[in-house]
Amino acid sequence: MTSAEAASDRLLIRDLAQVATADGRSAPLRGASLREVAVIENAYVLCEGGHIAAVGATADLPALPADVTEIDGRGLSAIPGLVDCHTHACFAGDRVGEFALRAAGATYEELHAAGGGILSTVRATRSAGEQGLAAALARHRQWMLASGTTAFEAKSGYGLDRETELAQLRVVRAAGGVPTWLGAHALPPEFSERGADEYVDFLIQEVLPDASEVAEAADVFVERGAFDVPQARRYLTACLQAGLALRLHGDQFTELGAIDLAVELGARSVDHLEATGANGIATLASSDVVGVLLPASALFLGRPMPPARALVDAGAAVALATDFNPGSAFCESLPLVCALACTQLGLSPEEALVASTVNAAHVLARADRKGRIAPGFDADIVLLEAEDWRYLAYHLAGPVVHTVVEGGRIAWGSRA
Ligand code: NIG
Ligand code: FE
Repeated sequence: MTSAEAASDRLLIRDLAQVATADGRSAPLRGASLREVAVIENAYVLCEGGHIAAVGATADLPALPADVTEIDGRGLSAIPGLVDCHTHACFAGDRVGEFALRAAGATYEELHAAGGGILSTVRATRSAGEQGLAAALARHRQWMLASGTTAFEAKSGYGLDRETELAQLRVVRAAGGVPTWLGAHALPPEFSERGADEYVDFLIQEVLPDASEVAEAADVFVERGAFDVPQARRYLTACLQAGLALRLHGDQFTELGAIDLAVELGARSVDHLEATGANGIATLASSDVVGVLLPASALFLGRPMPPARALVDAGAAVALATDFNPGSAFCESLPLVCALACTQLGLSPEEALVASTVNAAHVLARADRKGRIAPGFDADIVLLEAEDWRYLAYHLAGPVVHTVVEGGRIAWGSRA
């Protein structure tokens, strides 16, 4: 790390070509406000005590005390630290062998039905131990940071037994992530005879009391071969009563009614939506549930993209996330997701930025302090290797992230 990570708790980034951030303070943003990005040219950002103290034109920079660490922002632009509100980053092992099988024609569903897929990661995660999991997540966390992610959510769901589910949640929390309990991700082998209803009983009776102490939200995979709507309703209702916020994996392959259930239960989000049709779009748009779009997953599996443009035009609040996991989206890069949003989902760079900052922070109940470069917000900032911030989405898979500031300190990058 460089000398810029010195003792001073004041950090000044000056002479930036641009600072781009969502306007205003409200969240989530939808409709026309999803496009309201304020851009300040020739700008500075001053951080103090881990928070943004001021942002403005460098020409208006006030006199500052001597103990300020400075970053020369010439040639760079700044956006808020990216917020990844949907990942499965706490996993052991990989699925590169399955990836090769898929490249040769096997489908994700076929691999899952044959006992591979999610269950293959469950085997690796169960045998990793809590320390092994922490090491794996630390490695993944570094990849995410290098891609500009300063706040992340990560789900359990690769334990599917009491000890490993709880270990995953603890590891996510210890790494500074937002833990989501995805106990209802798949049916573990020891329940294959007894079935999903009994597994849901087990989750509610044996795991929820402790999971609700560590997790902030619960999630369920509503899909053929995973959990149906009545099972999901039972699981989520118990989780809600235990104080957890609710999320759903819905409409990934099949429209089974996940959006209706999300609205019925007042969920924070319903995520995936690749199979969502006109009724689902209308229902989501007239609700407070955020639609979390995961285009890297659709790309990685060669599946249809979610109807993002229709959702936004109908007035839905949408967020973007990676879905980072070893099987359906081995991709930690939100800049790549923003590129997919603009090239595949019909969103503008402004909509992509707001969806991966403010609206993603809202899904994690942190929009009051994350997702904007504004006084009082956490000093989480990404400096892009470009004078125009829209390179975030434009430079497809390029080295667009120059420096990442987290809590007012350089967390990743080079130039001081
Ligand atoms: O969001 N669809 C369910 N769960 C994950 C994939 C998990 C895996 O394949 O390991 C998803 O795509
Ligand atoms: Fe997912």
